Amino acid sequence: METDREKWNRRYASQDSYLGRAPSPFLKRMINQVESLVRGRKALDIACGEGRNSLFLAERGFQVTALDISDTGLEKGAQQATDRGLAIDFRRVDLDRQALTGCYDLVINFNFLIRGLIPAEIAVLNPGGVLLFDTIMETPALLLSHTPSYLLRPGELEQLFAGYDGDMVFHEESDNGEMPTARVMFRKAGPH
Ligand SMILES: C[S@@+](CC[C@H](N)C(=O)[O-])C[C@H]1O[C@@H](n2cnc3c(N)ncnc32)[C@H](O)[C@@H]1O
Repeated sequence: METDREKWNRRYASQDSYLGRAPSPFLKRMINQVESLVRGRKALDIACGEGRNSLFLAERGFQVTALDISDTGLEKGAQQATDRGLAIDFRRVDLDRQALTGCYDLVINFNFLIRGLIPAEIAVLNPGGVLLFDTIMETPALLLSHTPSYLLRPGELEQLFAGYDGDMVFHEESDNGEMPTARVMFRKAGPH
């Protein structure tokens, strides 16, 4: 059976850009608020893919570590970084198996869901650091084409963040038809 790494390598090799070169609209929407909240500029991009969000953050002065299982995605991101004169620490990691390390002011998790990783994403945040999370919710059609465990249930993302020491600065579920999405900005307790 094809592994996740092989599947994503095939997808990234098959087209110029799988999710496009532009950063996530949610990241663009929230970045000014994030920058006003965080004290430092160390960022971690979880399952960075081809690095579109890492590149955006690096261009804004963040020192970015970008993790993904796909070497093809990482190589494409690294090439873009070189072309744009940016330094990003791209690392091949299986997030199902390898623990998160380091301390970050910002962690981003876009279009990727391992529920059990959320505690570690919060643990690697510095006090007062911010986690941006944005991923897809299930619909009957998506349940036929996607692995069900990779899709959020309505109301679930807010529950997943309940009980941690910090603030849910922002939460929304947008039902835009084919691809409904849940988003959270969580700020870890600490110096404000
Ligand atoms: C839909 S893409 C999202 C890419 C990126 N976050 C973005 O929004 O542009 C999902 C990513 O998860 C990565 N991935 C899947 N399983 C993984 C795992 N076990 N460890 C690390 N990355 C994984 C894939 O290689 C792919 O790049």
